[in-house]
Parts: sequence; C-alpha cells; structure tokens
Amino acid sequence: MLLEMDRNDALTPEADPAFRADVLAGLLAPQKAIPARWFYDHRGSELFEEITDLPEYYPTRTERGLLERHAPDVARIAGAGRAVVEFGSGSSAKTPLLLSAIDPSAYVPIDISGEFLRESADALAQRFPSLPVHPIEANFMHPIALPPAIGQAPRLGFFPGSTVGNLTAPTAIDLLRAMAGTLGVGAMLLIGMDRVKDEAELVAAYDDAQGVTAAFNLNLLHRINRELGADIPIDAFRHVARWNDAEARIEMHLETARDIAFSVSGQHYAMRSGETIHTENSHKYDRRGARLLLAAGGWSTIAEWTDPQDRFAIMLAEVKPPRTAP
Ligand code: TRP
Repeated sequence: MLLEMDRNDALTPEADPAFRADVLAGLLAPQKAIPARWFYDHRGSELFEEITDLPEYYPTRTERGLLERHAPDVARIAGAGRAVVEFGSGSSAKTPLLLSAIDPSAYVPIDISGEFLRESADALAQRFPSLPVHPIEANFMHPIALPPAIGQAPRLGFFPGSTVGNLTAPTAIDLLRAMAGTLGVGAMLLIGMDRVKDEAELVAAYDDAQGVTAAFNLNLLHRINRELGADIPIDAFRHVARWNDAEARIEMHLETARDIAFSVSGQHYAMRSGETIHTENSHKYDRRGARLLLAAGGWSTIAEWTDPQDRFAIMLAEVKPPRTAP
C-alpha cells in the first residue's frame, strides 16, 4: 500500500494537489461526484470548443444571435464609458459583439486559465486598439480587486454562456452578491441564462449524436488516470445526461455498466453496476425563476431579451439599492 502510493506519486510529480484532493474525496461520497472545473485540461478545453459548434448545442449560437441583435439596446440603457468586466472570459469569443456596440472605457477579462487569458486579451487589444485592456488571472468565485487604472467609471459586468447555471442556487447567489460587491455602486450586469424547455431538446444538447459531449465527460477519467496514477477501467463507463425536473437541471454523470474496482493515488474504490459519478449540473431558469435568482443575489432586472422560441435569455440588471421597507 505504502509502496504503491510512493510509486504513483513518483509517476505524477506534477499532479495538482487540489485536483487530487477533490477526486479522492469526491469518490468517497455516497453519490460520487467530481467538480466540473476539472474537465478543462487542454483536451477538455478543445472538446468544449467543439461542443459549442454542435447542431444540438443551441445555447452558444442562440446567445450570440441575441448579443448581435440587442447589444445596441444594452448600449442605449447602460450608456457609453463603462468599464466592462467579464467573469470567466475564456476565449472572449462573444465579447466583441458587446464592446463594439457600447463604447466602453476599459475591458477587464477575468479567467482562471492565465495562458488562455493573455492570448485572448492580446487578440482583443489588437481588435480594439484604443481600448485599455487589463486582464486578471483569478478564480471569479473569490472576491476580486479591480485595477485602479480603470478609474471611477461605472462598471458593466458580463457573464455569458449560462455559466451561472452550472452552480447550485446558494452558490449562484453568493457569486452574484460577490459580483455586486466587486462592481460597486451604479453597476449593471449582462448575464446569459438558459431557459427551461422541452426535455428532449435539453437532453440532446448534452448528449449529442456525434458523441462529443460523451468524449468531453469521459476525458475526465482519462485525466484522472494520467495525472493521479489511477487505473479506472474507462471502457466500463458511459456518458449519461439526464433531466432532473425537481431541481430544473440537466445532470451529467459517468455510469459504470459493471461492478468495478480501481485505485487512485493508492486509494482503493469500488463501484456497483449502474452506479454513477456526478460530473456537472446545468440549471435552467424560466422568466420568473431567473429574476428571482438575480434578486436574491442583489440585482434587479431592468431588461431581458430572448429568441422567438424562448430558448435562451440575456438579462440586464442593476445593483439593487439597499432598502429596509418591504
Ligand atoms: N454553461 C454551459 C452549459 O451548462 C457550458 C457547459 C458547462 C457545458 N459544462 C458543460 C456544455 C458540459 C456541455 C457539456 O450548457
């Protein structure tokens, strides 16, 4: 046992201790679960980019269409000269649609992946040569100090992709409150939220015919085997996307088709046939639910735009002034 641990550690000196801790603890829970942030190694990020182009994956193209169409409305309401602060900017793929419409005073992309962040910030700075760009490498789940260089201009937070839906309600509300704190008095927030809809359409978006989402989910097991000295029999697993109606969310799981035993970093685990590892949630919100979530996080909705089929919404909100009366 000890020997085996030593050998595995020697094989994987570069393993992220937080990744190891999350996996070891997550596999001990009665419902096994691994946090979704570990999907995004190099291969995982590539596969995710592919997902956004899939015919079944409507959110990316629907949100893009909404931004193309309604960025001028956002500009009219928010006014010129705001500092745009994007949370989890990634490739900043949708950002130019907003920046070119609103005449901002600065752009602050925040992302946990420094390499990705600098590349996309450079590309954006080239495209908007007179716009000051101040990238921040940080986890947007923690409080963030904005760069003093952006001055006192009012802020416009930008949080596209329905990423808020990947959080459970309490965590989403904590994040929205933290954003209100980061952005300050007079701030607005433009946020994308996927809507509740027909179950078949939702499931297809997370279980595509080409199997790209399945590969994305299963890639997590490859990453564990490679980086954490594990011997998970990946061929026993299949990707499952299911609609949890009570929680109004799509859940992604990795389900084993037979009884298995494996070890990770010298720790032994067993799974019964049909047992799953829960890997992702994607909560969906109807109109009232979306407004209620924003309100609970300290934001009042001032405008919202959806596509004709009401598949996806972009919502514009402002920090609620504190008040005591009902
Ligand atoms: N926030 C998006 C969504 O929930 C993106 C996303 C996160 C995603 N994890 C995913 C998309 C897994 C497909 C598969 O839809």
